[in-house]
Amino acid sequence: MTDEIPTETDTASGADFAAGLVEKAAVINETLGELVDSRTEILPHLRKAIKYTLDAPGKRVRAAIVLWSCEMVAGEIKPAAKTAAAAIEMVHTYSLVHDDLPAMDDDDTRRGQPTCHKAFDEPTAILTGDALLTLAFEVLAAHVEDPAVAVRLIKTLAKVAGPEGMIAGQMADLASENTEATLGVLKQIHMNKTAKMFAGAAAMGAVAGGANDDEIEHLLQFGLKLGLVFQIADDILDVSGTTEQLGKTAGKDAVQGKVTYPAVVGLDESRSIAVEMTDKAMLALYIFGKKADPLRGLAAALLDRTR
Ligand code: IPE
Ligand code: IPE
Ligand code: MG
Ligand code: MG
Ligand code: MG
Repeated sequence: MTDEIPTETDTASGADFAAGLVEKAAVINETLGELVDSRTEILPHLRKAIKYTLDAPGKRVRAAIVLWSCEMVAGEIKPAAKTAAAAIEMVHTYSLVHDDLPAMDDDDTRRGQPTCHKAFDEPTAILTGDALLTLAFEVLAAHVEDPAVAVRLIKTLAKVAGPEGMIAGQMADLASENTEATLGVLKQIHMNKTAKMFAGAAAMGAVAGGANDDEIEHLLQFGLKLGLVFQIADDILDVSGTTEQLGKTAGKDAVQGKVTYPAVVGLDESRSIAVEMTDKAMLALYIFGKKADPLRGLAAALLDRTR
């Protein structure tokens, strides 16, 4: 019973995490703004759609992981980490614009506002996604000073977002609609569509911060586990949250016959798998000692997130 009452330390670390994320989001938003504004040849209509989707209040979790991870290994946020954070946020935002299209999940609301294809039109939404995806790689090539670091960041992001990563997951997610999938298949979908992007975020921060291979490997493992927890929570929130709270339509997964944790194992088991997975994420951080406390705070907060 007393175990469930948050201790002063828990409350303080929850508040620290929230304040830390606000601080990181400000850095990310500023970098995104500068990068888009400096591309002066983007036509006005496309620029409007890009800014509409990018400026909407996303949580910036993946981008913040890049910054936290770099800070942990290097003691500071390197310029390459800011660029990498903006790049992964661009790729993530593109994935949402396309995920919401009528041919995919057919959603009307995203980040608390009409989806890109609703606010503009389908061709504009397709091209806004394409623009964000390609711009992400251009900024990495153009703004990361050390060419070896730039190539490693580009390779990592392409791998986790590409046909062996997020795209594979999105394909399998659509193919599995209205099927009886096993927990193994579900885990594979979540691993690809969401967890690999989290792993990529943690690894990119490490690469930008000059981490060694062992540190990068541990951060990849941390990101994979964290990403699985994040998508389990997303599936749970689709069932238990409201559209207003989530900024996207609640209750759609069941209607569309999506293969989700609540659908396959039920809500209670989904929650205990998320708790177990969070423990595994924390375990991957042991080599960093106390320096990993911000990432531990993040993992604890994502387990209990409400949006
Ligand atoms: C939504 O991601 C898509 C998933 C992989 C669950 P987020 O919940 O991070 O969305 P934003 O960026 O905050 O809008
Ligand atoms: C999307 O998963 C994962 C992406 C790669 C965009 P969902 O389809 O569950 O994400 P939401 O619920 O629409 O944000
Ligand atoms: Mg989807
Ligand atoms: Mg969706
Ligand atoms: Mg979802």
